[in-house]
Order: sequence, then structure tokens, then C-alpha cells
Amino acid sequence: MAPGRTGLIAALAVLALVAAVVVALVLLLPARHDPYTRSSLALPGDAERGGRLFLINCAGCHGIAGQGLVGPRLQGVDQRRSDVWLIRQVTSGRTPPMPRFQPDPQAMADLLAHLHTLH
Ligand code: HEC
Repeated sequence: MAPGRTGLIAALAVLALVAAVVVALVLLLPARHDPYTRSSLALPGDAERGGRLFLINCAGCHGIAGQGLVGPRLQGVDQRRSDVWLIRQVTSGRTPPMPRFQPDPQAMADLLAHLHTLH
């Protein structure tokens, strides 16, 4: 084999290894360690502000009282789901037609506080 080719193969092997490590880090780091989730969980949420955000962004699908419309009922959702899970649900866009929201960490904390009041 030509020497140039060996170098190329070695470089590709190193690249593959680096890519594998990056993918492993992204997948294995628990969600609660990502900085966005951490600061959303650390900030004290204001349920009243969260309620206003909910009316504007969520009530059209989930109902003013979270009773469920197009989207499922959210009353008692905090009994079924963890805060980390709820943050992911709001920010990921993983379940269309629910859109992906990008509230800043304070707004996310406020929304969480509001979700905790829906019973
Ligand atoms: C366009 C309609 C729509 C909007 C707007 C919307 N959602 Fe949803 N949401 C849905 C639908 C549909 C589902 C069910 C998705 C699925 O499980 O396939 C859902 C699921 C959820 C769930 C999971 C409930 C469970 O028990 O599994 C939560 C929590 C939630 N939405 C919160 C919110 C919040 C908070 C907002 C506002 C920031 C919001 N949604 C805005 C449609 C919407």
C-alpha cells in the first residue's frame, strides 16, 4: 500500500474515533446536566407569569385550564412526568404537532411552576 494511503486511513480512523466519543458524550450525559435544563431547574418559577405564558403559547391546544383539547390533558401532569422530562417535551419538538418552544430559562421555570398548579 502506498504510504500516503496509510496516512489517510489513519486520519480517518482518528476522525471516526473522535466522532464516536462526541456522540457518546452527547447521548450519555444525563439531560439534567445540560446547562439550559440546569438553570431552568435552579431558578425559582413564578406560577402567575407561567400562567400568562401558558395562555399565549399552550392553552390553544391544551385548554385554558390544561383540561385538554387537541393536546392531551395536562392536569396532574407533574405526577406522571419529571421536570426534566417536561422541559424536554416543551423544548424538543419531538411530538408534532406540538411545536418546539425556546423559552429562556426563567420563562421555562415559570412555565414549570404553572404546570405544577394544574390539578
Ligand atoms: C399545536 C398544539 C400544541 C401546542 C401549541 C402545545 N402543545 Fe403540548 N402537546 C400537543 C400534543 C398534540 C401533544 C401530544 C403529543 C404526543 O404525545 O404525541 C402534546 C403533549 C404535551 C405534553 C405531554 C403530556 C403527556 O402527558 O404526555 C406536555 C407536558 C405539553 N404538551 C406541554 C405543553 C406546553 C407547556 C405548551 C406551551 C409552551 C404546549 N404543550 C403547547 C399539542 C400542543
